[in-house]
Amino acid sequence: MEEIRIPALLDAHVHLRQGRLLTAVAPYTERCCSAAVLMPNTDPPLDTPERLEAYQAEVRGHFKHCQPLWTFKLTEKTSLADVVHFKKLGCVAAKLYPEGVTTNSAGGISLDVLGNVGKGRDMPLDRTLQSLCDYSIVLSCHGELPGLFCLDREAGFLYHLGRIMHRFAALRVVLEHISTRKAAEFVTLRGYANRLAATITAHHLLLTLDDVLGDKLAPHHFCKPVAKRPDDREALWELVLQGHPNVFLGSDSAPHLRGDKECAAGCAGVFTAPVLPEVLFELFEQRQALDLIPRFTSQNAQRFYGLTPSERTITVLRHGWTVPKECAGVVPFRSGDVLSWRLVTPA
Ligand code: DOR
Ligand code: ZN
Repeated sequence: MEEIRIPALLDAHVHLRQGRLLTAVAPYTERCCSAAVLMPNTDPPLDTPERLEAYQAEVRGHFKHCQPLWTFKLTEKTSLADVVHFKKLGCVAAKLYPEGVTTNSAGGISLDVLGNVGKGRDMPLDRTLQSLCDYSIVLSCHGELPGLFCLDREAGFLYHLGRIMHRFAALRVVLEHISTRKAAEFVTLRGYANRLAATITAHHLLLTLDDVLGDKLAPHHFCKPVAKRPDDREALWELVLQGHPNVFLGSDSAPHLRGDKECAAGCAGVFTAPVLPEVLFELFEQRQALDLIPRFTSQNAQRFYGLTPSERTITVLRHGWTVPKECAGVVPFRSGDVLSWRLVTPA
């Protein structure tokens, strides 16, 4: 049977949650990743060093082969002492959530404060961004501007990001889960060269808005930013297929219990962790680009984050299997579908 071995994935953006859900979903990341950048929008969020320390203690026991890479949530109260402490705790990135933009983003950065960055006023966020430069911490952005029409939110954020990058010339930024041609073009702007990267999810490489609401409403395909037009999806592929050095996998795997998705006010998030390598193999094979997988799924992120390449490898077999309907109370991406590649789980 055909099998392919690649370096283990570096998932540069994943939600593991806490408590029982963490226990249930962590093994999916542990099985195939050498490292994973863990998002801080837990409840309560990881916005103080004390909360991060407690979370580290909770998460560490779930990982043996996968290195957790820590992040914290930026708030308007984040102090210089906090940044220094977060750095000591091993944080690689500070996550900027515009207030109210997505799951647990209350207490994020208000539009008012975002709008005043780089305008020469001595705002607390300006000082925090400067300290990220000083301590080599990446600014990770949920790049949507709340309040705009939903399909325009990502483009709306780019204006602010441009200003931030102009004002802080040493700041290194990851624009997370890009979903539009405009964002893809922004990432390739030559002026930003090596200090701007973007993550792309497996689901944004596959879905368009039609898969969310073009037929019957598909709550398990609903995420933020929402999947857009076929041309937007194509622009993401163009970046991936040119092997763009600063474009890499961030799954944004975001588990929500079935009942929290299949209801009147369903949560945003696609739970891709249980099928991540398998779906990527399927998609890259369709594009005749299996050889580009390692760049996208580990090497580019390793370089951008300055990590030592891991020795861990994973093996994927050409072997049809049906994705379970539910994993730990959560409906996984491609649930019920037959996939043609399967991860070989080490004994
Ligand atoms: O779809 C999403 N789900 N987008 C996000 O930004 C957050 C995530 C979550 O935490 O559920
Ligand atoms: Zn996310």
